[in-house]
Amino acid sequence: MKYSKYSTVIIGSGIAGLYSALKIEQQVNLPDGILLITKSKLGESNSRYAQGGMVAVMKDNKSDSTASHISDTIKAGAGLSEFNTVKFISENSDAVVRDLLKFGVEFDRDEDNNLCYTKEAAHSVRRILHAGGDATGKMIEQALCKKVEENKNIEVYEETDAVELLVSNQECKGVVVFNNNIQEYETIYSPAIIIATGGIGQLYKYTTNPVGATGDGIALAYNAGAILQDMEFVQFHPTALAIDGDENRFLISEAVRGEGAKLCDADGIEFMHKYDERKELAPRDIVTRANFNEMSENNTDNVYLNATCIDSTKLAKRFPNISKKCLENNIDITKDFIPVAPAAHYFMGGIKTNLKGETSINGLYAIGEASSTGLHGGNRLASNSLLECVVCAYSVAEHLKSIDLKTPKQIDENMKSEIDKYTNEDMVLEELDIKSLKLELQNIMWDYVGILRSENLLTEALDKIHNLKNKFPRKYKCLNREEYEFRNMLTIAELIASSALSRRESRGAHCRTDYPETSEQCKHSIITREEGVLNLVK
Ligand code: FAD
Ligand code: SIN
Repeated sequence: MKYSKYSTVIIGSGIAGLYSALKIEQQVNLPDGILLITKSKLGESNSRYAQGGMVAVMKDNKSDSTASHISDTIKAGAGLSEFNTVKFISENSDAVVRDLLKFGVEFDRDEDNNLCYTKEAAHSVRRILHAGGDATGKMIEQALCKKVEENKNIEVYEETDAVELLVSNQECKGVVVFNNNIQEYETIYSPAIIIATGGIGQLYKYTTNPVGATGDGIALAYNAGAILQDMEFVQFHPTALAIDGDENRFLISEAVRGEGAKLCDADGIEFMHKYDERKELAPRDIVTRANFNEMSENNTDNVYLNATCIDSTKLAKRFPNISKKCLENNIDITKDFIPVAPAAHYFMGGIKTNLKGETSINGLYAIGEASSTGLHGGNRLASNSLLECVVCAYSVAEHLKSIDLKTPKQIDENMKSEIDKYTNEDMVLEELDIKSLKLELQNIMWDYVGILRSENLLTEALDKIHNLKNKFPRKYKCLNREEYEFRNMLTIAELIASSALSRRESRGAHCRTDYPETSEQCKHSIITREEGVLNLVK
């Protein structure tokens, strides 16, 4: 097996990974260089598909304040957001936005060259920056990719999957990676490994997430013994485009509701007033359950979003990609209702970190959607995710300034047996029908660990996941990327289902029909490989 060493290794090239690579290269002494590895092409990620925008509490936006943003975030978080985290991220938002502008990110501006702000659900003011109309993620990601590509000091491995973290005595020493194109493994040693591998949407039958969102980094961290937090909290977006046969669903941004669109049935009858006085702009979990309930009661596969009340020129300018995608499906959003339904969208749980990105394992860091900083609590406020990605990427770079990033001269002998699991040439692996196994898992998660949960459903889910595990005879070495992803998906599915079973209350996105009340004590759940799920009193 090939060996190499770097002062820092970043896994993932979404906005968290790209921005952290740039900030670390800019600010930190890196005697052995910096490596960014990504399992697809550079920049392919959830980040690329972000539409609505990024929260920006700018000092010169007189109608906004960090106090207001903190209060909105905490209200949406259903009692699980950590005040210090929310404050830190909100207060650093002005600085990171200014830095992103320097990196060439072009947020949309008005005729007087002022930044444009939009509003989304549960925000009390317009504070969301957008770019390219409804292509915010793509615009940020492209600007950062360009800078990474131009930067000769940042080495990039594409088409390379991290498959195992090398940890001994609670210290992360490196990572085993697999190049899917040439089918080769490499061991990379580093004193600082940063997981920026994004979310888990692909575990569900219906999702807004692209194919790579399989929870890899979270599964790797769990296998390595790291503490995970709030794994039961999966956010379902209320309005994904519901076209027959399309299970990876295109998002119809919340910003469309922010600009005035209404949810209704096929006859145009609105229903959100029955569920919440904030109607279409109630927090995401409430709107999702409302749509789900309307669909169940009326036995339909979708509800509708009526954007015809918005000026057609404004619709075309603000939402060019949504307009185009709908037109490709014969829906003219200036005249027709848009069929929408909920879909798995974002993961509030993940690898527990502090504000420096540190996990419970020395030398292992996590940022972005793979981490659980305590910002989002039980229900993420729209457009807070991109902000968290960039603030935490900035902050991990600040932290690494104070760390000695020299790599060890000698290979750690304790690691040899871990690495041998991947180099064993005698192991003959037969091909498996991964596509069918993956579909089976996605159906289980949607039907039994979805928007509404109960003890019966979750217990059945765990049985089914265990049966599925028996059909997948791999523990370590796999045949290809799809198998590695499926291995990780099984790990995460079990963790979500068992955490959801342990949380006997309803809170934010976690809704138990058998425990509809929120328990008075606010608790985070944590889960580790050794100890299983524990509920912690805050
Ligand atoms: P990602 O962007 O998902 O990047 C993860 C990276 O890790 C990818 O490059 C992937 O290939 C790589 N990777 C994964 N596993 C491995 C492995 N084993 N080895 C190597 N590489 C690996 N949030 C907002 O704040 N505002 C929005 O408007 C918004 N809109 C959204 C719209 C859609 C359709 C979606 C899906 C999400 C949206 N979100 C939005 C959420 C937000 O986009 C994500 O939470 C955020 O972009 C996550 O960024 P990240 O860098 O943590 O992960
Ligand atoms: C959206 O545009 O509706 C998504 C925003 C988000 O997920 O934060």
